[in-house]
Amino acid sequence: MTFLSATLSRVKPSPTIAVTAKAQELKAAGHDVIGLGAGEPDFDTPQNIKDAAARAMDAGKTKYTAVDGIIELKQAICAKFLRDNELSYTPDQVSVGTGGKQILYNALMATMNPGDEVVIAAPYWVSYPDMVLLAGGTPVIATASSQTNYKLTADQLEAAITPKTKWFIFNSPSNPTGAGYNREELKELTDVLMRHPHVWVMTDDMYEHLMYDDFEFFTPAQIEPRLYERTLTCNGVSKAYAMTGWRIGYAAGPKELIGAMRKIQSQSTSNPCTISQWAAVEALNGPQDFLVENNKMFVRRRNLVVEMLSAIEGMTCPVPEGAFYVYPSIGGLIGKSTPDGTVIENDEIFATKLLEDTGVAVVFGAAFGLSPNFRVSYATSDEALTQACKRIQTFCTTLT
Ligand SMILES: Cc1ncc(COP(=O)(O)O)c(C=O)c1O
Repeated sequence: MTFLSATLSRVKPSPTIAVTAKAQELKAAGHDVIGLGAGEPDFDTPQNIKDAAARAMDAGKTKYTAVDGIIELKQAICAKFLRDNELSYTPDQVSVGTGGKQILYNALMATMNPGDEVVIAAPYWVSYPDMVLLAGGTPVIATASSQTNYKLTADQLEAAITPKTKWFIFNSPSNPTGAGYNREELKELTDVLMRHPHVWVMTDDMYEHLMYDDFEFFTPAQIEPRLYERTLTCNGVSKAYAMTGWRIGYAAGPKELIGAMRKIQSQSTSNPCTISQWAAVEALNGPQDFLVENNKMFVRRRNLVVEMLSAIEGMTCPVPEGAFYVYPSIGGLIGKSTPDGTVIENDEIFATKLLEDTGVAVVFGAAFGLSPNFRVSYATSDEALTQACKRIQTFCTTLT
């Protein structure tokens, strides 16, 4: 339809949202569905955060705020970066948006010119390539391998960089693999970036607090302080604080870039929800001890899922360092058939048949740029996970 923008034809809707919607639809129609597609914790926002929001409303904090965030939240964000990441920022280097998604989108919209390239490691969070396309740039995919547990190597990054590269988007722990880069692995990547001074780093640290087994989190500008001037450090309260619906994300970086992002936000959404901003102040400044308890629960669930899926012949499931996803490979199942004669030619067919035949909703690997795999979100109850993994086991054993 010519009425619609030509840019739109270059992008696709988010497949993870599509899977969640399909699962909900089947559930509403009375099917016994277990959704392992959603990228959000199953527990409630902590009470102290909800109380802070209620207090803000009672105090009449229900009006517009400064476009990219109240000073109290910017100060809390600066304190967080210093406390957790040894990064020193001032409030005028901070931008607050409607979720991490808007922050990344603003940054790309503020910097992309036709022909500009953005290096993205696959498997990637589904939105990165499409956001780059919407902003008029060109995504360049550097594919990591299962041999490195889906972490990009220095050589792979080096090979993807060209004179046109503007950004390298980095995400650890990763959605969809849960892979976390340790200090040495990250240093190898930052060494490459030091050799290419025209490349900026957009680091998406959304899963920073969801790291397991004593794994230590690092962010690029912390490992290589000389990258500070060309790094946008992005984060948000959605995942760690179970605040996906509150829509608060933030970033810190060079003032000029932050100002350009503000300009875009000022002509699109204006400030993120005022009440949510006050809730985020409490999330960042308030007690953090519940994170330890939540992580214990996530480790237990991760181990449960990895163990049950690894037991399946034809499936390999690496143990991820963080986030709440596993990304098993189904290399050994490709080419097999279901009892009704459907050939599992790829991971999309696998996920479709799995949902239709067993009611288990997962997201197929092609959506994240690496096949044949699928993503399981284990941010749901132990009972649901056990039941879902049993169904996946049964489904796979019926393949011939
Ligand atoms: C890697 C990554 N970055 C950013 C986001 C967006 O977070 P938000 O809900 O704050 O927009 C997500 C959400 O799924 C994510 O997985």
